[in-house]
Amino acid sequence: MPGKAAYDGLADWYDEWAKPQGAVRNDDEASRLVRELLGRGRGRLLDQGCGGGRFFELFHELGWSVVGIDESEDQLRVARRRASEARAELVHGDATALPFDGESFDAVAAVLVSTDVEPFEALVGEAARVLKRGGPFVHLGVHPCFHGPHSLFQEDGRRLVGPGYRERSRQVDLPAFRPEGIRARVGAVHVPLDDLLNALLEAGLRIVRVEEGREAEPPWLLAVRAEKPD
Ligand SMILES: C[S@@+](CC[C@H](N)C(=O)[O-])C[C@H]1O[C@@H](n2cnc3c(N)ncnc32)[C@H](O)[C@@H]1O
Repeated sequence: MPGKAAYDGLADWYDEWAKPQGAVRNDDEASRLVRELLGRGRGRLLDQGCGGGRFFELFHELGWSVVGIDESEDQLRVARRRASEARAELVHGDATALPFDGESFDAVAAVLVSTDVEPFEALVGEAARVLKRGGPFVHLGVHPCFHGPHSLFQEDGRRLVGPGYRERSRQVDLPAFRPEGIRARVGAVHVPLDDLLNALLEAGLRIVRVEEGREAEPPWLLAVRAEKPD
C-alpha cells in the first residue's frame, strides 16, 4: 500500500498509551466482551485492523488461528512481537479491500476500528464476503451514542451533548480530543448507531447479540455479534 498510514510512527507510543484500556491484560471489559461475543472456535479468524496485535493472545486462547491485517507497517512491526506466541499471520493491506478469497475465514473480528477505518460499510462488506457461511463477525467499538463529534467529556465524568451526531467526516480537531490521547494525533471518524447496525444488515449479516459495556457510566463500548446466514 503506497503512502504513510495514520498510525505509522505512532505504533510504540499507541501500544503503551492503550494499555490501560485493556486487551493486552485480557481481564478488561473490551477483552471480556470480545471473548463473550466471539466464543471458542476453530479455524481461521481475520483480525481486521489488527494494529499491534493486542487481541492476538485472546483469539489464540479461544482456539482460533489468527490472521491480522493492517494498513500501518509500523503497527504490524509491533504486532510481529506478539505474532509468534499467538502463531498469528500478518498481512499488510486494506481492511476495506481484503486480499482474500470469498468464504476463506471461519470468523472475523473488527476491534476498536470503527473510529479509524473508512468507510465502515466497506469494512463490514468485506468481512461478510470473506466469511464462511454460519461464521461470526464480531464488532467491538466505542459506543457511538456517547463518543463522537456531538459529545464532550466534562471534568466530572458527565457528557455535554451538542450537535454533530450525524457528522461522519474525519474530525481532526475536536474539543473532545484530549491532547495526550490518540485522537488528537490521528483524528476520528464517527459512525452513528443506525448506520453502524444497518451496515451489518445491508452486508447480509444476521445480528444475534448486542452488548453495551457496563463498567463505565455511560458505557464506552458497544459490541455486536452477527453471523453470515447458512
Ligand atoms: C485504534 S487502532 C486499533 C487496533 C487494534 N484493533 C487494537 O484494538 O489495538 C485502529 C487500527 O486500524 C488501522 N486501520 C485504519 N484504516 C485501515 C484500513 N483501511 N485498513 C487496515 N487497517 C486500517 C490502523 O492502522 C490502526 O492500527
